[in-house]
Amino acid sequence: MKERLQKIRENAVEKIQAAVDLNALNDARVAILGKKGELTSVLKSMKDVAPEDRPKVGQLVNETREEIEKLLDEAKNRMETAAREAKLRAEVIDVTLPAKKNNVGHRHPNTIALEEVERIFIGMGYEVMEGPEIEYDLYNFEKLNIPEGHPAKDEQDTFYITKDILLRTQTSPCQARAMETGKLPIRMISPGRVFRSDEVDATHSPSFHQIEGLVVDKNITFADLKGTLEEFAKELFGPETKTKFRPHHFPFTEPSAEVDVSCFKCGGKGCRFCKGSGWIEILGCGMVHPHVLEMCGIDPKEYTGFAFGVGLERIALLKYEIDDMRLLYENDIRFLKQF
Ligand code: DAH
Repeated sequence: MKERLQKIRENAVEKIQAAVDLNALNDARVAILGKKGELTSVLKSMKDVAPEDRPKVGQLVNETREEIEKLLDEAKNRMETAAREAKLRAEVIDVTLPAKKNNVGHRHPNTIALEEVERIFIGMGYEVMEGPEIEYDLYNFEKLNIPEGHPAKDEQDTFYITKDILLRTQTSPCQARAMETGKLPIRMISPGRVFRSDEVDATHSPSFHQIEGLVVDKNITFADLKGTLEEFAKELFGPETKTKFRPHHFPFTEPSAEVDVSCFKCGGKGCRFCKGSGWIEILGCGMVHPHVLEMCGIDPKEYTGFAFGVGLERIALLKYEIDDMRLLYENDIRFLKQF
């Protein structure tokens, strides 16, 4: 019996050593100690052992069992430790490696400038209204006193979808749309994208942005227009800023003017920035033409109004001293995040 147990023990050691992983080790445990295992069959045959030898044999069987269990546990521990170490090695983090950076975007200079302009006018009680980029000729030209054959149509050549539908050349059609709602008084600005059939260069693009302004109420005068735009220029370019109104012509305003601001770089003395003149042109404006009011259903004897139009890119380029408009459309984050 002793030999048989010895044999079982040797067999067990072999099986345990042959196990390559925890699964195999478990199979070995079942084969050796399980119900159909060799050791169990020894226990089952105890009835054939002489009664006086039974305690001795029983003890031997138990010792063998304990020994084998110990070997199995040791092997299991060894394997578990090895597996844990392998996992740790595989998951090691090298804290000296450069971090993966999340690239965060940046507000576009146009957006920053627009939000500034909106802040100023909302502060003066204006509302922000947007109009369609695909517009009727009727609103883009007709209702703004630019009938078929008017030379202004040549200056503002654009992309036509049909004879009557086009990509708007200006935000001024929003004036007509605001007036036609019939809600008076009006105090609104209307920012948005406009289009012209222009070649790309440092100061031109087939697509750019404007901000339209319109006020219609009883007793609105040119003095209101001047006061409003002077205040706007001071808020935008600093409290020292002076404004100059130069007579001009726009078909939908009468009288019309172009507005210059004193150069915020040299204060008006003349520098490279203002091309030596001390002044920088920023917008067009005027009193809403009575015929335009009439075409939009407003009685010009009762109501008057003023309007203005600012180029958004122009403001952004001036404010941030960018000398090529194309930079605004490349959307290179290295450029954008400087502002
Ligand atoms: N829409 C004009 C343009 O694109 C700018 C303009 C001038 C708008 C005078 C106005 C205005 O509202 O009163 O050249």
